[in-house]
Amino acid sequence: MEKLVIEGGRPLSGTVQIHGSKNAALPILAACLLADGIHVIENVPKLLDIEVMLEILRALGCRAEHADERVILDTADVNSHHIPEKLMRQMRSSIFLMGPLLARFGKVQIYQPGGCAIGSRKIDLHLRGLESLGAVIDVSADTIKCSVEKLKGEDILLDLPSVGATENIMMAAVMAEGTTTIHNAAREPEITDLQNFLNAMGADISGAGTDTIIIHGVAKLTPCLYRVIPDRIVAGTLMIAAAVTRGTITLRNMDPKYLTAVIHVLKRVGVQIRTEDDIIYVNCMNRPKPVDQIVTSPYPAFPTDLQAQMMVLLSLADGFSILKETVFDGRFKHVDELNRMGADIRQDWNSAFIRGVPRLYGTTVEATDLRAGAALVLAGLAAAGTTVVEQIQHIDRGYDRIEEIFQQLGGQIQRCALIPKV
Ligand code: UD1
Repeated sequence: MEKLVIEGGRPLSGTVQIHGSKNAALPILAACLLADGIHVIENVPKLLDIEVMLEILRALGCRAEHADERVILDTADVNSHHIPEKLMRQMRSSIFLMGPLLARFGKVQIYQPGGCAIGSRKIDLHLRGLESLGAVIDVSADTIKCSVEKLKGEDILLDLPSVGATENIMMAAVMAEGTTTIHNAAREPEITDLQNFLNAMGADISGAGTDTIIIHGVAKLTPCLYRVIPDRIVAGTLMIAAAVTRGTITLRNMDPKYLTAVIHVLKRVGVQIRTEDDIIYVNCMNRPKPVDQIVTSPYPAFPTDLQAQMMVLLSLADGFSILKETVFDGRFKHVDELNRMGADIRQDWNSAFIRGVPRLYGTTVEATDLRAGAALVLAGLAAAGTTVVEQIQHIDRGYDRIEEIFQQLGGQIQRCALIPKV
């Protein structure tokens, strides 16, 4: 029970190193189940979701240590194909343990992941993909059981480029008999990182980063040492934070090519950005300009995971903008909270109509999900007065001590115990 207390209105300035990617690390940790022995995975951030993933792996029989951004994972004694209900409910992404467990044991049991704060989030593409590889799937109100004699390669066409389904199918197919081709695959950098990791263990996969991924099944994988890519969503959040506070920051350890769409949009808004190898310089002195329309879409387009943060910036623009969310069907819960801080945003189905205001004002707000929570922190850093952000366990799922990241940049932000209301 903690909250963040922010004294806003100070421009951010300084240099920050970007931590490892949550969305790359999670499937990579799951994929360790595919090879018996000791894996060493570096640049794994200290986040709640990572800790839940490690808890699940321990519950399955792994030994796992996480210190200094390095996970040492021994998978030799894995003895269960059953993900405990409590842990499954804590992290929806545990769905992509299905692929590796099916490949390892020929069976897997999970609990229905249930609803989600950002939309309905179906799992039909995961299940159909595994079925195509030969799995028999038994779905009940509570559980999903999958079993297979021998996974067999197949041509799979995804109706939409789901990140999780692409990863699940890659992991299930890596040791299947024959060749699997995933058409309309997701192209996110985290998929390429998973391919690189699997290939480092001895897999034969190509095409990640394009919409066609080809997986030639291999007999065996061997543990390896691997370093996870930096978190492009954390980097994008910080770039937008610099812009909302009219600050000047430098991001290190972040390849700008993963942020092409974000850089493009920020430049349209008037933010000055300069890049070198793995450094991004961000500077914003003036009030942001409005944009006619920004649409979130799968990579390489503008990411849904930065939509809420971008809305804060457009809330402060000198004019009217439209932000359209096309990836998730319920990802606008931050609109009411931002309006309570003085923003002028009207939501109509999947579009937000944003009339820029000169200032936001601090008040007490609630993080409803991970990225919405990050957006409220950005709003607090820009706002006049004090902002209190509650329900910050959502933020801890994806940012490694967000207050310390912003303190390094001169932000006045503290984590405090939340005294329960009586
Ligand atoms: C991943 C990311 C998340 C990001 C999202 C989109 C991780 C751990 N999470 O989530 O941060 O916001 O990609 O970039 O990597 N869908 C179906 N059926 C399915 C699967 C998905 O209809 O079987 C729909 C979803 O409801 C959603 C859309 O596809 O509307 C995209 O979802 P998906 O790409 O699968 O996102 P995740 O892998 O869950």
